[in-house]
Amino acid sequence: MNQPVSGFSKKTKAEKIEWLAENYLQNSPNSIQILRNYWNEDASLQQLHDDFIENTLSNYYLPFGIAPNFLINEKLYALPMVTEESSVVAAASNAAKFWLERGGFKAEVISTEKNGQIHFNFYGSEKSIEAFFEAVKPKLRDSIQSLEKNMKARGGGLLELSLVDKSHILDGYFYVYATFETLDAMGANFINSCLEQMAHTFEEEARNFEAFQKKETFPEVVMSILSNYVPECLVRAEVSCKVEELSTKHYKGKHFAEKFVRAIDIAKTETRRAVTHNKGIMNGVDAVVLATGNDFRAVEAGVHAYAARNSYYGSLTHAKIENDIFTFWIELPLAVGTVGGLTSLHPLTKLAFEILQKPDAKELMKILAVAGLAQNFAAVRSLVTTGIQKGHMKMHLMNILNQLEATKEEKENAVEYFKENAVSHSSVVSFLEKLRN
Ligand code: MEV
Repeated sequence: MNQPVSGFSKKTKAEKIEWLAENYLQNSPNSIQILRNYWNEDASLQQLHDDFIENTLSNYYLPFGIAPNFLINEKLYALPMVTEESSVVAAASNAAKFWLERGGFKAEVISTEKNGQIHFNFYGSEKSIEAFFEAVKPKLRDSIQSLEKNMKARGGGLLELSLVDKSHILDGYFYVYATFETLDAMGANFINSCLEQMAHTFEEEARNFEAFQKKETFPEVVMSILSNYVPECLVRAEVSCKVEELSTKHYKGKHFAEKFVRAIDIAKTETRRAVTHNKGIMNGVDAVVLATGNDFRAVEAGVHAYAARNSYYGSLTHAKIENDIFTFWIELPLAVGTVGGLTSLHPLTKLAFEILQKPDAKELMKILAVAGLAQNFAAVRSLVTTGIQKGHMKMHLMNILNQLEATKEEKENAVEYFKENAVSHSSVVSFLEKLRN
């Protein structure tokens, strides 16, 4: 049985790998080589990756692809996308091309406010906590002056402070609600530093507040942290065209548009469909979030909470037909940055920003919303027409061939054959069997 290890983080990389191989990988003779295969030859680049997290043993690659032809507010973009899902980049590229020929995407940032909370317990009178809050508010602001200096000089910083009483829901629970403008930074570190400093001042001042002293009841801070729920940091993207412009060989534009709108309405109504629908949106959003070194967990958490803001979980996209015009749009809460964090550290994220022509955070918000809308358009278009498996399995063919260790020549034969035949795992297996015999 394996034993716990102490002081692991102090071991060298070689020692850590040796320990792992001895304790958990006894049956994998190639394990050390596999880890080494993904080391970067450039020692300083490897060091950069080693330093991102604790106990780095190797690097984990994902494909970095590009989806060209995105016309957004009359400007042409190629979107860098990082994803492992075979059909995502192809679908994004198709949707981009489709809308390029129909006027492109329009996008606008609606708001950019972020927020955080100092959560605290208080069991005294409502009046006394309200009086204390009014008295301490300017001191809270003052206490973060040095933290805020640079952000303020650029036009950002702390916006508002207010007191929120939640004691009717959870006995003794209150919070200080703080709003921030963090400009081109995602702002997590800035917001958290400000909140922790203000929480410290809050408790310190509370100890000297007369009304609390009299009753010997003081507020106690439980925790201070930003919220990844950012419905006040909102972006909207849209496409529209005449219904007849949606016609294809097999579908009349009107019929397609009606089915499409119906699919969106289903995703608005039924959570089981909405989750998958929104997952498809996030296929596009996350791929660009990852390529640009942003925090995809924060984005995911905030987006899904927004999808449930009306007390049920629904579609993030909307569609309508009015006067024979088809309009399809998305609204997303997105707290992302173009400075700080990994954005200027990882050579590939730096490159992603070059590809995007160095957007600021607002422009990146628009690009991300468009990536989500395009991805959803491609998915729903397939779903209401051919079904998704045809395109999906075509893109997945290479993975199956690689799994079956097909040679270059076998792959070429397979690609030719499956242009006309349906791809499935078993059909590829039997194709290769025939070929090999
Ligand atoms: C697959 O990754 C995403 C889809 O399921 C999205 C959808 O159903 O809308 C195709």
